Amino acid sequence: MLTKLTLKNFKNFQNATFALGPLTVLIGANASGKSNVRDAFRFLHGLSRGYNLAEIMGEKYVEGGVLQWQGIRGGTRESAYLGADTFAMTIEVSDPHKSTSIYSIEVRPGTGASRPKVVEESLCVGDREIFRYRPDQEKTDVRISSATPYRPLLTQIAEQQNWEAQSLTACAREAVRAIHSMRFSELNPDAMRRPSFPGQTVLGDRGENLSSVLQTLCEDPHQRNAWVEWIRELTPMDTSDFDFVPDQTGRILLALVEENGRRTSAYSASDGTLRFLGMIAALLGPEASRFHFFEELENGLHPGRLHLLLQLMERKASEGRVQIMATTHSPQLLGFLSENAVEHASLLYRLPDTSEGRIRRITDIQDAKRLIKEQGIANLHESGWFEDAMFFLDDTEDAA
Ligand SMILES: Nc1ncnc2c1ncn2[C@@H]1O[C@H](COP(=O)(O)OP(=O)(O)O)[C@@H](O)[C@H]1O
Ligand SMILES: [Mg+2]
Repeated sequence: MLTKLTLKNFKNFQNATFALGPLTVLIGANASGKSNVRDAFRFLHGLSRGYNLAEIMGEKYVEGGVLQWQGIRGGTRESAYLGADTFAMTIEVSDPHKSTSIYSIEVRPGTGASRPKVVEESLCVGDREIFRYRPDQEKTDVRISSATPYRPLLTQIAEQQNWEAQSLTACAREAVRAIHSMRFSELNPDAMRRPSFPGQTVLGDRGENLSSVLQTLCEDPHQRNAWVEWIRELTPMDTSDFDFVPDQTGRILLALVEENGRRTSAYSASDGTLRFLGMIAALLGPEASRFHFFEELENGLHPGRLHLLLQLMERKASEGRVQIMATTHSPQLLGFLSENAVEHASLLYRLPDTSEGRIRRITDIQDAKRLIKEQGIANLHESGWFEDAMFFLDDTEDAA
């Protein structure tokens, strides 16, 4: 599980550390930096795909001119805090029965015509330093003759075959694996309405292939029953079963069967129902990722359904199957979180007249625990208490 992310001079964060739980909810005003956190995870994921820094931050095309990867918002020029020279991030991975591993990378995004380049990179497992790489300094302990500073060394090491430093390669591969299985869904009902071919089992970020992903989930009769039972419980009104209807081209389209037998094709299913099914398919589908980032989780969902969805997310996350990070503006959503999830919920905020984004665990805000008990977390969020508290506390902390 990813347990900690530290950002230095990345986007609007000068120095911020995020503690991650099985489910980590981020709240914060517009422009407080929630999507910048997402960009940081996308940077790490792009890195795990073996791209070079220009591709991670810009775009990656593959043969045939197909766009395979959309870079980071703001590209290279706006990636470092207020135009700083470099930015850095550190990700910590901890799993039971394994040593904690910590990977760090510092990047000079480059200005004008220069290419983005690694300044320093390191990987530690337990108390062992696996490698440290500073391409601009002579004294660097990794010697791959073909190493380039324009691409993270971690993936260059992970790709080595028949290399004498096998334990180094194994550690690098493990670190790459930890940041590889990530999903950044931005579900779009129109994309989910399009028919797809049986066998297309990967859900697109916008929810493409929803029909064939759900069909695959329903292939095993045992699983189908469990799944349909479950959906019935969650959506008593509009879905009591699924059907998949082929068209002339061989594509199939999801149809929702209502309790009274009426069928609705995905074309006319409600946006909220599709988003709901899309999220479940992303989390439980045949090729589900380990780490999911959902923006504004509550979008289009009725509170009752939102509650059930959160219960499902928390259950799957606590079983260790998936790890979820979600942003929200919904006080109601906060109110539905278990005590354990509230422990990991964090506030992003900016002090007046500054660009710097800061982060604080909600339960670490002075008096928050007591007030949450007395007034409920939803009420506190709705009244803006968390932000107000930080303006007041941060001012006095700075003065102290
Ligand atoms: N390189 C940077 N330096 C300082 N601030 C930045 C940088 N890049 C983006 N920002 C700031 O981050 C804010 C947007 O953050 P974002 O994560 O999109 O907000 P939200 O919380 O609404 O998702 C903007 O106010 C923007 O000015
Ligand atoms: Mg945003």
